[in-house]
Amino acid sequence: MGTLAFLQQQASSVAADIDLLTVGITVVAVVFSVAIFVAIAFLSYRYRRGSKVDRSRPPQYNHLIEILWTGIPLLIVMGIFLWATTLYFKVVKVPADAMEIHVVGKQWMWKLQHPSGRWENNTLHVPVGRPVVLTMTSEDVIHSFYVPEFRLKQDVIPGQFTQLWFTPTKTGTFHLFCAEFCGTLHSTMGGSVIVMEPSDYERWLTEGNVQETVSAVGQQLFRRHGCSGCHGANSSVRAPMLEGIYGRPVAVQVAKAGVPLGQTQATTMIADTRYIHDAIVLPEKEVAAGFRPIMPTYKNRLSETEVFQLIAYIKSLSSKRDPETRRQDNSDRLTPEDYEARTGFTPENIRGGAAGRGGRNSGGPNGGVAAPMNERTTR
Ligand code: CUA
Repeated sequence: MGTLAFLQQQASSVAADIDLLTVGITVVAVVFSVAIFVAIAFLSYRYRRGSKVDRSRPPQYNHLIEILWTGIPLLIVMGIFLWATTLYFKVVKVPADAMEIHVVGKQWMWKLQHPSGRWENNTLHVPVGRPVVLTMTSEDVIHSFYVPEFRLKQDVIPGQFTQLWFTPTKTGTFHLFCAEFCGTLHSTMGGSVIVMEPSDYERWLTEGNVQETVSAVGQQLFRRHGCSGCHGANSSVRAPMLEGIYGRPVAVQVAKAGVPLGQTQATTMIADTRYIHDAIVLPEKEVAAGFRPIMPTYKNRLSETEVFQLIAYIKSLSSKRDPETRRQDNSDRLTPEDYEARTGFTPENIRGGAAGRGGRNSGGPNGGVAAPMNERTTR
C-alpha cells in the first residue's frame, strides 16, 4: 500500500502492514455502517405512518437472509482475525540477528544504551535497514515507548522486561513519546528516534560518552559487588557457575507458600534475561536447584541499568565458552558427589520426577544444567 497522505509517514518495516490493516478494518466498518444507515433511512421513509404501501402479507421468516447475515459477517471477522493475528506475530517475533539496545524508563526520561556501551537520554540513534530490538524496563512506574512513525508502542513495566523490535526503513528524525500517564511531567517524557545511514551510525557510536562495552561495565560490577566471589570460575563457594548459562535450561526450585525454600519440586526454565534479572533482584523467588538459598538480594543496591549491564556480561560468558571447558567445570557435568560438594546438599526431589522432566526439556549437545544429576545417576 502506498503512503497514505493523511497519516504520518511510515518509517518501519511493519508500518505499511499496520496501516493497511487499520484501513481495511475501517473500510469494513464504514461500508457496513453506511449500508445499515441507508437501509434504516429508506425503510423509515417508505413505511412511515400514513404511507400507502402494501402491508398485507409481512414476511415471517427467510432462511436465505438468516444464513447470509450470519455467514457473511462471520467470514469477514474471521478474515480480520487471521489477518491481524498474522501481523501480530510478525510484530512480536524478534529476529535472531536484531541488535539489542537496553532501555530504562524513569520519571521522566528515557535512558538508552547501545551494545558498544554508548549511552544516550531521550534520543535513540539507530542505523537504517537493520533490525533493532529494545529490551526495556522501568525504574519506577509504568511507561510506554511509542514511536508513531514506526506504528509501534510497548509498555515499559517495573520489574519486568518487555521487548519491541523494528527495522527502520527511512533515515530521519521521528517522534518518541511516553504513552502511559506516569506522573506530573509525563507530557515532557519523550524525544526522538534518529535513523541514520549505517556508516554514520558507526561513526556516531565512537563519538561522545563511550568508553567501554556494556558487558565490560557489567564485568566490573560483577567484581565490585562481589558476585565473582561465589560465581567466579575459581570460586569454591557454593554457587552456580554462570559460564554458558545464558539461554540454556536450568533447574530451579520456585518459591511456594508453606514450603521451606529449597524444598519445592525442581522445575526447568530457560536462563533468559528475565530469569537472570530476577535471580539478581529477587533471588529467593527461584533458587537454582540443589543450591542453598543464600544469594543476597541486590534489589535497591543495583539500578535497572546496572542489572542490564550484569546480564550483558553473563551473556558474554556464554559466547566465549567452548563445549569442552563447559564439560569440565559446569555443574551439568559434575558427579553427584561433586555436585553435593559444591552445593552443600542434594535435595531428594531433584533425583525424583522433576529431574526427569528437566532431562526431556534440556536440549543441546551438552544437555542442560537441569537434568544433570539424574542423567548421571541413571547412566
Ligand atoms: Cu513515562 Cu508517561
